[in-house]
Amino acid sequence: MPKDLFWGNSVSSVQTEGAWNVDGKGLSVYDVRKATSTSSDWHDAIDEYHRYEEDLDLMADMHMNMYRIQISWSRVVPDGDGEFNQEGIAYYDRVVDAMISRGITPMICLYHFDMPLALANNENGFMSRHTVDAFVRYAKAMIDHFGDRVKYWLTFNEHNLYFTDEAFHIAGYTSGDQSVNDLYTIFHHTMLAHAKVAAYVHQQFTDVKIGGMLAYTPIYPATSKPNDVLAAQQYDEFVYQNLNEVYATGHYSSEVMTYIQNHDIKFDWQVEDESTLAAMKTDFLAFSYYRTGTINADKLPQNLVPNRYLNVAFEQNRFLESNAWDWSIDPTGFRLAITDLYNRYHIPVFPVENGIGIDEQWDGEHEIQDDLRIQYHRDHIRAMKDAMFEDGAQVLGYLGWGLIDIPSSHGDMRKRYGAVYVNRTNIELRDMKRVPKKSFYWFQQILSENGDEL
Ligand code: BG6
Repeated sequence: MPKDLFWGNSVSSVQTEGAWNVDGKGLSVYDVRKATSTSSDWHDAIDEYHRYEEDLDLMADMHMNMYRIQISWSRVVPDGDGEFNQEGIAYYDRVVDAMISRGITPMICLYHFDMPLALANNENGFMSRHTVDAFVRYAKAMIDHFGDRVKYWLTFNEHNLYFTDEAFHIAGYTSGDQSVNDLYTIFHHTMLAHAKVAAYVHQQFTDVKIGGMLAYTPIYPATSKPNDVLAAQQYDEFVYQNLNEVYATGHYSSEVMTYIQNHDIKFDWQVEDESTLAAMKTDFLAFSYYRTGTINADKLPQNLVPNRYLNVAFEQNRFLESNAWDWSIDPTGFRLAITDLYNRYHIPVFPVENGIGIDEQWDGEHEIQDDLRIQYHRDHIRAMKDAMFEDGAQVLGYLGWGLIDIPSSHGDMRKRYGAVYVNRTNIELRDMKRVPKKSFYWFQQILSENGDEL
C-alpha cells in the first residue's frame, strides 16, 4: 500500500462534542431538538469537547494518522453572520495542535447539517443568498486561521443530499412548501458557497487541498428490465454524478440542465453564477459509503423528478445481507463506487466515512466481541485494495465513521459504529468511559501494517 495513505476516523461536531452551551457557543438547529423515545437530545453527545485528549490517544494507539473533525459554525460564529467567538476558535486550536503532536493529520469539514439557529429562523437557511455569504465569510476565516496547520478541507458533508428531499431537514429550511423549485434553489446556493470557498483556497494557498463530498449509495436496477436500468441511471446522474460533474468541470450535467429547461424549474439562478461555478477547482472527491440500494421503476409515478425516485422506489437487494437497520452489506459496491468515481473524473478519491451500525451493550466487564464489524471493515478495505490495484483507482486513504462510538444521525446511541465503546445510552449519560472492543485491536494490527497484510 502507498506509504502516504491516510487511515483514520471521521465525525461531526454535534455527534461528538457536547458542550452545546459553553464558552460562548451559539445555538444551532440541533440544540433545540428534544429527545424522543428512540433518541437522546444533542446536548452531550460523547463530550469530546472535554475528552479530546483521551480520544486522540485512543486513535493514535490504533495507528491512525488522520482525524476528520468538523468545525461547528455556531461555536465560532454564534449567530452565523455576526461576531466571531474567540473561545470557540481556541477550542479547535487546541484540538488541531493535539492531533498534530500525535502525528495525526487533521481534516476539517465546515458544515454537517447544523445550521446556526438564527440563520434558520431569520433567513430560511440556504434558501437565502445571505446565508451563502455568511457561510463563505465563516469558511474563509477558518481557512485563514487554520490553513497553516490544516491542509485537508471539506465544505459540505454529503453535499448531494441537498439535491434530495433531505435538503429540507439539513439546510436550515424552516418555511416553505418543499417544492422542486425550493429544492433546486437550496442545492444551487450550497454549490455557489462551495465554489466560492474552493476558489478562495486556491487563490490564497498552494498547499491546502479542498474536496467535494457526496453520500454515495450506488443504486442498482432491481432487475435487468430496461426501465429499471434507466431509472437507476437517472437517479445516479441527478443525485450523484451531477454533483461530481460540477466539482470536476464547474457545470451542471447536461441531463440535469435539460430537465430544468423542459420542466420549467424556477430556481435562483443569476447570470454571474456561471462564472462562479466555473472558477472552482476540486483537489479530491470525498464520499461516505455504507451500503447500496436498488430501484424498481414499476413503483415510479409519471413525471416524478428523478431527485425523488428513491422516496418511492427503493428496494432491498435480496442478494445481500443487512444489519438491523436494513442497511445492506456490500463490499463489492464499495469497489464499484471507488472505481467508477475515479474512471469518470480522474481526480483522487477519498472514502471518508465507512462502517456498520450495531446495537451493543457493555456488561461492565468483558470485551465486546464485534466480529461483524471486523468482517465489515476487512471486506471493505480489501475491496478498496481491489479498486486500487486491479482497477487502477487513485485513493488517498480510508476513514471509518464514528470509530469511537457516537450517537447516530438520529441521535440514537443504540446504533454504534465504534471500535471503542462509549458508556452511555439514550437516557443515561453514565460515565462515558471509553472501552476498546475487539475491533480496536484488529484496527491496531491492520493499521500498523499499513493494510499490507489484508
Ligand atoms: C452519514 C452522516 O450519512 O452517515 C453521519 O454523515 C451519519 O452523520 C452516518 O451518522 C451514519 O448514519 P447513521 O444514521 O447510521 O448514523
